[in-house]
Amino acid sequence: MTEAVRYEVENGIVNLVLDDPNQNANTMNDAYATSMAKAVDRLVDEIAADADSIKGVIISSAKKTFFAGGDLKLMTQATPADAQKLFDNVEGIKATLRKLETAGKPVVAAINGAALGGGLEIALAAHHRIAADVRLEVGLPEVTLGLLPGGGGVTRTVRMFGLQDALMNILLQGPRMQPAKAKSIGLIDEIVPADQLLDAAKAWIESVQGDDDAAKQPWDRQGYRMPGGTPSNPKLAANLPAFPAMLRKQTKGAPYKAPRNILAAAVEGAQVDFETASRIESRYLVELLVGQQFKNMTQAFFFDLGSINAGGSRPAGIEPKKFQKVAVIGAGMMGAGIAYVSAQAGMEVVLKDVSLEAAEKGKAYSEKLLAKKLERGRTTQEKVDAFLARITPTADYADLEGCDLVVEAVFESVKLKHDVFGEIQKVVKPDALLGSNTSTLPITGLAEGVERPEDFIGIHFFSPVDKMPLVEIIAGEKTDDAAIAGALDYVQQIRKTPIVVNDSRGFFTSRVIGTFVNEGIGMLAEGVDPVSIERATTIAGFPAPVLQLSDELNLELMTKIRNESKAAVEAAGGTWEGNAGEGVIDTMIELGRSGRLKGAGFYDYEDGKRVGLWSGLREQFPTSDTQPDFEDLKERLTFIMSLETIKCLEENVLRTVPDANIGSIFGIGFPALQGGAIQYVNGYEAADGSIGVEAFTRRAQELAATYGDRFEPPALLLEKAKNGEKFV
Ligand code: NAI
Repeated sequence: MTEAVRYEVENGIVNLVLDDPNQNANTMNDAYATSMAKAVDRLVDEIAADADSIKGVIISSAKKTFFAGGDLKLMTQATPADAQKLFDNVEGIKATLRKLETAGKPVVAAINGAALGGGLEIALAAHHRIAADVRLEVGLPEVTLGLLPGGGGVTRTVRMFGLQDALMNILLQGPRMQPAKAKSIGLIDEIVPADQLLDAAKAWIESVQGDDDAAKQPWDRQGYRMPGGTPSNPKLAANLPAFPAMLRKQTKGAPYKAPRNILAAAVEGAQVDFETASRIESRYLVELLVGQQFKNMTQAFFFDLGSINAGGSRPAGIEPKKFQKVAVIGAGMMGAGIAYVSAQAGMEVVLKDVSLEAAEKGKAYSEKLLAKKLERGRTTQEKVDAFLARITPTADYADLEGCDLVVEAVFESVKLKHDVFGEIQKVVKPDALLGSNTSTLPITGLAEGVERPEDFIGIHFFSPVDKMPLVEIIAGEKTDDAAIAGALDYVQQIRKTPIVVNDSRGFFTSRVIGTFVNEGIGMLAEGVDPVSIERATTIAGFPAPVLQLSDELNLELMTKIRNESKAAVEAAGGTWEGNAGEGVIDTMIELGRSGRLKGAGFYDYEDGKRVGLWSGLREQFPTSDTQPDFEDLKERLTFIMSLETIKCLEENVLRTVPDANIGSIFGIGFPALQGGAIQYVNGYEAADGSIGVEAFTRRAQELAATYGDRFEPPALLLEKAKNGEKFV
C-alpha cells in the first residue's frame, strides 16, 4: 500500500513527502494520521538505532497545496456524543507532531503551496519554515469558520510571538497571508524561488549541523521566556482585561464562540507547560467542533462560497468570456468605484459622464485610493501609472467604441437609463453585454427600452464598491443564459462574489433589507427603547444597528421605494398592506430627519460624523413601561429576514440556497455566525434545545401569534417542516 506520507532518505536527510494517493489534496483523516504517525515512528526508531545517520528532516508536499487541513465535510458531522473520540483523535495527531518536533533533529517545512489551518500547524511543528516565492496563502483562518487552530496552532503561536501578537496578528481574525507578509511577522523564515525550495531546505539542514538549538523549538530550549511575558508577569496581567473588551469590540457583543475559545485557550495555555496547554487547546477545539455555530459558519464560508466560486449558478455549456474593455456610464459614487475595480482587474475602462469634468472627478476617486495604497507601500508608482492609464474619462459616447461590456450607473430614472442605452448601443460592440447597476428598477421593465433585451442584465454593486465583496446579478425575463454567464465571468474577473437572482421588485438584497429595516423601525412605534433595538441588532450578530443602518440607507429613499412598490401592487389589483415602520418614517421625514445625508436622522450628526442617538427620539416615540423580551427583539430581526428569503426561494427570485446564504451575509449583513438567512433556518436552535427547520417553523408561528402575520411561515417552509426536510 502506498503511504499518504512517503519516507524518502537521501544523503542522511529524511524527506517526509505529503502525498496522499487517495486524494487530490492532503486533508487529514484517520488513515492520514496513521500514515504520518508511522513515518514519524520510523524516524524516531532510526535515530535511536544510529543518531548520526540522520542529519535532519524535510516536510514537503507533492500536491499543489502544502496541506489542506482537516476534512471539513467529515468534521461538520460531529455530534456532542463524538466529543471524546474527537479529542483522542486530535491528541493523537498532535502527539505525532510533538514527537517530530522533539526528535532531536532539525526539521524544516518546505512550503510549496497553500498552508492554511491544519496545513500551517504541521509547518509550525518544524523548526524552520521556507516558502516558495509564488502566490500562496498561509495562516490560521479557523476563526472564520467558527473553529480554533487546535492542532497546536494556538499553543505554538503564543509561544513564538507572545500572547498579544499571536492573538492580534494571527489567531483572532485569522488573516490569510502571502509569503512576504507572513515572513514580515515571523511565521515564515525564508522565501526562495519555487524550483529551489528543496535545495534551500537541504541547505538549511546542512547549515545547522552541530547546532543543538536548531533542532529544538525555542520553548524547548534552556531558559526560554515567552515573548511579552506570561500572564503572571504583572505587565501582561495588567493588559489581560483589555482582551475580552477588545473581543467584544470585534464581535460587537455577538455570541461568536470561536474567538472566545481562542482567547481562553491562549490565555490559559500561556500559564502552563506545553503539553498541558496543548490539551487545553484540544478541549476548546472539540467544544466548537460538536457545536452548531461551526456547522453554520462552515456551511456558508466553505461549502456555499466554494460552490459559488466554482461556478454556482453559471449556465452550463457556455465558453468563459474575458472582458477587455468596459464602458462605465455615470462617474458618480458607484460608477467611480466600478471603474476602479475593473481597472484593478486589468481591464481598459472608458468612464463616461455628462461632462469631461464630471468624468475626471470619477477617475480622481481611483487616484485617491491608489495614492493611499502607495503611501502604505502596497503598490509601486509604476503600477499606479499603468492602472490610471487604463481609465479614460470622457463625455463623448464615441469613445465607447470597441467596449465588450457596459455597466451603467447614471441617476435612478427609467427614462434617463433608456436614453443612455439608446446612445450606447450605437457605439459598443454589437454583442457587448449590457449591464445596469440600478438598485431598485426591475430589470425586465428597463430591458423594454433596450434593443437587445437578451443581452441586458442587472449588475448590482454595493457601496463602497472597492470594499464590498458581493455583486448581485439580476436576470430579467428576456435575459439569456449567455448574458448570465458573461456577467458571472466579469464579476469573477474583478474578484468579487456573485449571486444570480431573478427579477423582482428590490431583487433579493434590497427586498429583504427592506423588511428588516421596517421591523426595526416598527419597534419604535411599539414603544421599544431605541437603545434596546440597536443592541438587539448587534448582539444578534448584525454588523450595524438597525436604526443606524436606516440613517445610512436614507428614509426618503425608502419612502420613494415604498411608493413605487405600493403603486405596483395597486396597479396589479392588490391592496398595499403597509407596515408598522411607515408612520415612524413619515414622522421623521416631516421633522427633517431623514438620515445621515440630511445630517439628522435617528442619530445626531456633527460634520457628517455620527455622535449618538437623537435625544428627542424617546419623546417622539414614547418608550413604554413594559418592554418586550430581549430575545424576541433579536429573533424578530433575524426571522423577518429569513422568512422573506424563504419567500424569495418560493417565488424563484433566488435560485439556490448558497446564493441565499452568501448573498444574505455579504449583501445585507445577515449574522455570519448563523451561516446565512437559510442556514439559520436549517440549523435553528430553539430554546428547548431542538434544532432545525421544524423548530424554526414553530418559533415563527409563536412570533406570528404575538407580533403579527408577517411572521407566518410561508408555504414552502411549512412543507419542509412537515416532511422533515432541510433547505438544500
Ligand atoms: P450619483 O448621483 O453619485 O452618480 C450618478 C452619475 O451619473 C452622476 O455623476 C451624473 O452626472 C451621471 N449621469 C447622469 N446622466 C448621465 C448621462 N446621460 N450620461 C453619463 N452620466 C450621466 O449616483 P450613484 O449613487 O452612483 O448611483 C448610480 C446608480 O447606481 C443608480 O442607478 C443607483 O440606484 C445605483 N446604485 C446606487 C447605490 C448606492 O449606494 N448609492 C448602490 C447600488 C446601486
